[in-house]
Amino acid sequence: MNVLLLGSGGREHAFAMKMAESNRLDQLYIAPGNAGTANFGINVNLNPTDVASVYNFCKEYQIALVVPGNEDPLVAGITDYIELAAAADGLQISVAGPSAWCAQLEGSKDFSKAFMQRHGIPTAAARTFRAEQREEAEAYLRQHAMPVVLKADGLAAGKGVLICDTTQEALESLALFWTEQKFGEAGAKVLVEEFLEGIECSVFALCDGKDYVLLPPAKDYKRVGEGDTGLNTGGMGAVSPPPFATPQLMRRIEESIVRPTLQGLQSEGVDYRGFLFVGLMKVGDEPMVIEYNVRMGDPETEAVMPRLQSDLLELLVAAASGKLSGMELRVDPRFAVTTVVCSGGYPGELRLGYPMTGLTGRDYTEDERLFHAGTKREGADCVNRGGRVVAATVLDADLKEAARRSLALAQEIRFEGAFCRKDLGQDL
Ligand code: AMP
Ligand code: GLY
Repeated sequence: MNVLLLGSGGREHAFAMKMAESNRLDQLYIAPGNAGTANFGINVNLNPTDVASVYNFCKEYQIALVVPGNEDPLVAGITDYIELAAAADGLQISVAGPSAWCAQLEGSKDFSKAFMQRHGIPTAAARTFRAEQREEAEAYLRQHAMPVVLKADGLAAGKGVLICDTTQEALESLALFWTEQKFGEAGAKVLVEEFLEGIECSVFALCDGKDYVLLPPAKDYKRVGEGDTGLNTGGMGAVSPPPFATPQLMRRIEESIVRPTLQGLQSEGVDYRGFLFVGLMKVGDEPMVIEYNVRMGDPETEAVMPRLQSDLLELLVAAASGKLSGMELRVDPRFAVTTVVCSGGYPGELRLGYPMTGLTGRDYTEDERLFHAGTKREGADCVNRGGRVVAATVLDADLKEAARRSLALAQEIRFEGAFCRKDLGQDL
């Protein structure tokens, strides 16, 4: 079959690598892709959120399965559009991702909080306020325990969350949303949320509407600086599995979060098909949901995919067509550590366009993978084109070794301004 993968990051390079292993794949197209995905298929110049153009491409190139990498096309309604249009044209095109209604679980924090509250899914207590309710919001903050978390309701590229240590700071932060409008329309509604103290974990379920399979969990490192200091980023690296994700904890997560979430969706009359990513905090022994995402994580995917021994394409087809029941995953028991090489200035003003070396420096072993994220071909050179540039993953039975070797692999990549975190996994 022909497959169209949407996106251009390290996550999509990892998906492309994995799907290319499948003997069910005829041709893979990636829109828009990157220098790494080009090794596994044909990069095409399509905007993933322009759903009509994506559909026209699918018709022209006989695509049977569309795999959205990030949330934007899902929030834009790509699944609904393609399914309706394909049915009208008598074509079989499925999308391994949920509907626009389901995508609100990621697209609106107010929507997802209300969903969790309706279905008794453990999460931090929260209340939502609009700009017109400023006095009410201030009164609520004055009696709230500190720290407190303020969140923009809409998509803010991971930057719409403020953790405030004092009432004064929290009151002042409201101005960022409603006076300075720093988050635009995404900050029109603000959630005031209880602060959860604990350790974070990313859990991934691939769902077909009724059934699901759990992928290996991961821990993502969001802060730019060593020891979890400095600004939040899209993710400086990942470890899979985090040793604290014991079988008991994973069972608890399935019982109290994954199953109630899917049952809640079914009871509301919707079929959730595709990846469901639960970002959670382990508070004591109790997992609590911080957020839902309707896609895989990045850079978690670059740690998780190299561990997956099952046929990803077969799983995605089964998820998109309601046939996951009875399928089981085969997973490499080794640890995967992914270190992300970033551009100078990240996550602030980026220093871009420098030629890179070390990308194809030698023959890599079976347990080493390099994923392109923000790279671009310029003639014979590869240059850095985004904040996160390359993800370097190493598999090793020993977590410390995996971390040490992942860092060494990342450090083979050189360009002006390049840096990475050197302490991944040390907290585990
Ligand atoms: P989110 O955009 O919801 O993933 O939030 C970004 C980050 O803020 C999370 O990864 C957490 O580190 C932190 N965070 C969000 N909500 C809370 C909370 N209720 N308590 C503590 N930390 C939080
Ligand atoms: N690494 C977190 C995310 O993809 O949202």
